[in-house]
Amino acid sequence: MKSFEENDARTRRAAGMIGRREFLRAALASTGLAAAHLSGETLSGMGPFAPGLIGARSSNRLAEGSALPAKTSAITPNADFFIRNHFTTPRINEEKWALEVGGMVEKPVKLSYSDILLASSERRPITLECAGNLSGGAGVSTSLWSGLPLQTLLKQAGVQPGANTVIFHGGDTGEGDGVPAGTHYARAIPLEKAMDPTTLLAYEMNGAPLPPEHGFPLRALVSGWYGMDSVKWLTRIEVSNEPFKGYFQQERYVALKSNGQREPITRMRVNSKFVRPLNDEEIRAKEYRIEGFAWGGENRVTKVELRFDGNGAWQPATLSDAAEAMVWTAWSYAWTTPRVGQHTIEVRATDDAGNSQPLARDPDRKDDYELNAPHRINVNVG
Ligand code: MTE
Repeated sequence: MKSFEENDARTRRAAGMIGRREFLRAALASTGLAAAHLSGETLSGMGPFAPGLIGARSSNRLAEGSALPAKTSAITPNADFFIRNHFTTPRINEEKWALEVGGMVEKPVKLSYSDILLASSERRPITLECAGNLSGGAGVSTSLWSGLPLQTLLKQAGVQPGANTVIFHGGDTGEGDGVPAGTHYARAIPLEKAMDPTTLLAYEMNGAPLPPEHGFPLRALVSGWYGMDSVKWLTRIEVSNEPFKGYFQQERYVALKSNGQREPITRMRVNSKFVRPLNDEEIRAKEYRIEGFAWGGENRVTKVELRFDGNGAWQPATLSDAAEAMVWTAWSYAWTTPRVGQHTIEVRATDDAGNSQPLARDPDRKDDYELNAPHRINVNVG
């Protein structure tokens, strides 16, 4: 938990930065990219997210022993968004920072923080899940991200024929835990995914500048792919026609089969979790509203089902809104609680490509990524 002072300082800093952004916009301090796109933000993919939900806490406190539904917010407040860093957070001075776009491009581009803030931006809800998130784990969150589509920058730079890979270089370095000394965090995605309109270079999270630990001043947001590709503290974007050989590309985030076969981790798999009740919770109500989230990466969730006490048919839950790709969907189930005692509840989701969460982990997998077997909790009905 962050101290009040830390949060307060962050809020003041965020407010100052937003003011600066407005000032920059108003002043029309223009560079090539900025001048061309001062049309303002477009709000895309907003779907069911009412502005009032932004910043609302998803609290489980009400849940214990109560029939009252918790206010499950579809947007995770910044302070609660999960953090996954391989190295310590670099502190970047935005005045000195610049983003370079180079490699196989016609005109290499260099952009300052002001250029980025002035560029035409998009704001969309995107769910990020760490490839190593445990079943029902905390390594998944959803934010309203603001940023510029990467394709805008790549089109400006002019991708050369034959290029097929885009490498994101982060500003963090370190060693230990098998990482060779001097390694910086970097990941590559196919050019096709880089050109997808939903692949963003994000500078705001829920309307505030990226907090340092989430990649200030700029990060990639590769919608629908596991979090490792959403590289934080971006310094350089490199266009290439060769498979990227960086440490985090080749040695980490690889699916390992028992026959030695290796495959890169890319798209998020369909998954779901409970928000209420929590594991081992006491429930005293006769009618209890079970709630949670389900997500399908690039696919849309079409079905969420619950199973009680490990047997019987899977029961359909109600999706709260029309599900969209790239962002999780809230679901609920009106449970008439059964006899007193301990009960097990499982949840599993299915996407519009027909993929359902597997009932058990593939025994052939030797790595710990893509763990999407059903989230299972125990509750005590009193
Ligand atoms: N980018 C850099 N530069 N360094 C990192 O360690 N971690 C990646 C990704 N981007 C990482 C990074 C991983 S593994 C994940 S899951 C996401 O960032 C987590 O993003 P978050 O900390 O904002 O939730």
